[in-house]
Amino acid sequence: MHLLTLICFVAATVRGIIVPQAEAEAHFHSPVVNAPLPQGKNVTINGVLTYVSLPQAYDSTQAVLFLTDVFGLPSLDNLLLADEFAAAGYATYAPDYLNGDAIPKGGNVTKWIANHGEAQTTPPLLSVINALKAQGVKQIAATGYCFGGLYTVRLVQNNTITVGTVAHPSLLDVPNDFEVMKAQSHVPLEINSAEFDTGFTPTLAVETDAVMSSYSAGYMRRHFSAVGHGFAVGADPNNPAQVAAKKGAFYTSLAWIQEHLE
Ligand SMILES: *[C@@H]1O[C@H](CO)[C@@H](O)[C@H](O)[C@H]1NC(C)=O
Ligand SMILES: *[C@@H]1O[C@H](CO)[C@@H](O)[C@H](O)[C@H]1NC(C)=O
Ligand SMILES: *[C@@H]1O[C@H](CO)[C@@H](O)[C@H](O)[C@H]1NC(C)=O
Repeated sequence: MHLLTLICFVAATVRGIIVPQAEAEAHFHSPVVNAPLPQGKNVTINGVLTYVSLPQAYDSTQAVLFLTDVFGLPSLDNLLLADEFAAAGYATYAPDYLNGDAIPKGGNVTKWIANHGEAQTTPPLLSVINALKAQGVKQIAATGYCFGGLYTVRLVQNNTITVGTVAHPSLLDVPNDFEVMKAQSHVPLEINSAEFDTGFTPTLAVETDAVMSSYSAGYMRRHFSAVGHGFAVGADPNNPAQVAAKKGAFYTSLAWIQEHLE
């Protein structure tokens, strides 16, 4: 029972409230035999290293902005998931908003998070967004995982993007962040949540629903049973429930994006 053995690695409090206790081991899984190679390339955009995965043909006025977890671009899981959005037809960009300092396996997140607040993370993120807009991208769909969930929520709150989707978000201030969203945003949001997430717990998910059920821009949450924090990024290939949940989260996010990009 993985809940008994989990290592809680973020116990940060945001303005005395929340959340995220994320079990480190939920991010790791057995090696995937014959895992594909990343299809994209690392490119520097407006000074920011960005993993770019492009389909053969795509609408250059649209882009998917892929906001990684704390393991960033060194994590093959992140690159391959970005590739899946590209395979679905979207130019996909994963900026290194961790500033070259993705957390290594076994790293100390408490220590790490001190150098990865919004002050450090938002500027590289906005540099890439501004460059995309300058090159003619008119509609951005952001998809954020764990740490990237907070930044997707910020981009939704700030009406910077067209549509947002998050999975097992961390560092959120629930329900305040969603009250702010409801008060000022017109960007639709979808959330993939997990039964055993110790960060965005089922209780917090229900609190979020209470605010967002009357969000006029559009809201949906899909709950996945038998999985925990990190499930939408990494799945143990020997665990069919994890494999199915990861796939389900991807297709739910993709459908939400397809529905809301014109
Ligand atoms: C992109 O850069 C990251 C971070 O330096 C590196 O870990 C990764 O392997 C690179 N990926 C590719 C496809 O070059
Ligand atoms: C992690 O870092 C924090 C803050 O620097 C420190 O207090 C703590 O002892 C560290 N934990 C481990 C296991 O090294
Ligand atoms: C969103 O807007 C707030 C308020 O202006 C700002 O502090 C924050 O940096 C913005 N975040 C992002 C990701 O754009």
